[in-house]
Amino acid sequence: MISDKMKNALNEQIQLEGQASSLYLSMSVWCDQKGLEGCAQFLRRQSEEEREHMLRIFDYMSEVDVMALTPGIQEPEHDFPSIQELFKRVYAHEQKVSNSIYRLLQIALEENDYTTQHFLQWYVAEQKEEENLMRSILDKINLIGEGPMTLYYIDKEVAAINLLEEAAEEEVE
Ligand code: FEO
Repeated sequence: MISDKMKNALNEQIQLEGQASSLYLSMSVWCDQKGLEGCAQFLRRQSEEEREHMLRIFDYMSEVDVMALTPGIQEPEHDFPSIQELFKRVYAHEQKVSNSIYRLLQIALEENDYTTQHFLQWYVAEQKEEENLMRSILDKINLIGEGPMTLYYIDKEVAAINLLEEAAEEEVE
């Protein structure tokens, strides 16, 4: 059995992952509307991943016999100033999620909660990968710079990254 403090913190994490799933789905739709198919597919897959991150916490809480709370999700933004700004927001959101995971880990360490410490290791590794991924997309966007074909090249790059991510996922399965 884990502490009430840890239970509440895990439920807050569920909320954050659910919120990320909703935000990325909304971003995916925005990209689709702008004809940015590669970005739309990438963000759709990210949205599904966030839902899996959320469900993983549900499963863990069930294993340690505490109740996970299904989160109420705030309506996400539906409009974005530009694709560059959109990916800046994705990166900022991932940093927020990472900080939240570190806070959970801090609680688990303070409480000598070894089971939750072990559970959180997967998230520590996952967040490192996600932050790297989003940073590399931002680097590419900066390299592409301004110009008439900017959106076309950004979409092509993100589509290529999406294919690589899909292939890596299939390898793991
Ligand atoms: Fe589950 Fe990307 O945070």
